Amino acid sequence: MGVKIVDTCLRDGHQSLIATRLTTKDILSIASDLDKVGYHALEVWGGATFDSCLRFLNEDPWERLRLIRKACPNTKLQMLFRGQNILGYRHYSDDLVEKFVQKSLENGIDIIRVFDALNDVRNLKSAVDACKKYGGHCQIALSYTTSPVHTIDYYVELAKEVEKMGGNSLCIKDMAGVLLPEAAYELFSRLKANCSLDLELHTHCTGGVAEMTVLKAIEAGCDIVDTALSPFSGGTSQPCTEALQYVLQNTKDDPKLNLEYLNKASATLTKIKDDFIAKGVLNPKALTVNPNILKYQVPGGMLSNLMSQLKGQGAMDRYEEVLREIPKVRKDLGYPPLVTPMSQMVGTQAVMNILAGERYKMVPKEVNEYLRGLYGKAPAEVNEEVRRKIIGDAKVITHRPADDILPEFDVMKEKYKDIVTCDEDVLSCALFENVAVKFLENRNKKEEDEVVEINLYV
Ligand code: CO
Repeated sequence: MGVKIVDTCLRDGHQSLIATRLTTKDILSIASDLDKVGYHALEVWGGATFDSCLRFLNEDPWERLRLIRKACPNTKLQMLFRGQNILGYRHYSDDLVEKFVQKSLENGIDIIRVFDALNDVRNLKSAVDACKKYGGHCQIALSYTTSPVHTIDYYVELAKEVEKMGGNSLCIKDMAGVLLPEAAYELFSRLKANCSLDLELHTHCTGGVAEMTVLKAIEAGCDIVDTALSPFSGGTSQPCTEALQYVLQNTKDDPKLNLEYLNKASATLTKIKDDFIAKGVLNPKALTVNPNILKYQVPGGMLSNLMSQLKGQGAMDRYEEVLREIPKVRKDLGYPPLVTPMSQMVGTQAVMNILAGERYKMVPKEVNEYLRGLYGKAPAEVNEEVRRKIIGDAKVITHRPADDILPEFDVMKEKYKDIVTCDEDVLSCALFENVAVKFLENRNKKEEDEVVEINLYV
């Protein structure tokens, strides 16, 4: 059987290249063509899509999902889910996680990809249990990074644990694009030998190596790979779908995608992309290969954030110093993978350490909370001297952080009973309170206006 393909153009592709600005209308213009391509799945929801709908596009993310579902009756729909963080940036209560999983599946999702920034499996448990309870396919993704503790043995042991937890498939999620081809070959060979789940690779082209890495992973037995339709591939996004189809055509790994429909969808999406280029939404930098990420092992998005932080402080001349400080901060914090929210914490701390002239003199609130155990278990030992300097005598929790969070769903439902009309609305409010409330108030106002208008014409 050939390799299976998940296309990311409707989620990670536009999140990586145009700050998640595709509208539902844009998406629906290619959805039924994509439905005929023969993908394993389409990644269409989760990550930043939900926030972007409410915050920038004045769209209901749930409605988007239902419309995609209707337009794609033949293809599985996939979403990205940050474990106990759901789609937000803090830990939420278990009842909220369960409800979100239930409603995602009810509104059209088939496959939920769950991950935790720290690979602390306790932070995955609620989402995994809920996904199984409501009949979804639960894929567990492991955050890939390099460090003295993130060895191949580490990932093999985690894979065994994921299988025991009841995950239906396993993904290696290389958000920074630092997985090199030979390392991928070794990693996937070892995973294949030690785990019976289907294996998937998610990587990014940022460093210029992803296409090679994907091929080597397939050679080692990787079952599913993430690619993006050409207009939203390359740069900080995924490798190109059509190109991989040409490369593997008539080999034993042939994904057997329909090139006619791929080209049709690609032509439509290219026109949409051209508009984003004209409006300046697509930053040419996002399409430029950046091998520095391989040198510093830092995601591309983090490098651009650092530059803008330093520019804002008029301290661009300290850029190299900050880059050299990042690995030291990471070591002090027990080698967290550099993915949201850890990448922001490590980056900001490194900037503060350099600009303040003394290490850990200034500390973001999130780093303090992380060192108190509120994000879960660090992958390696934390530097105790640094921890005490930052948190003093404060208690460090070693249990699952969400054990301390009281149920939230009914509280939110009661709080916003005047503006929500369904459980999906409550979940939007729970995750992105301010933007969701504003969105719902506008929507309700519009509906009232329409009622008044209709009455006038009776
Ligand atoms: Co990604």
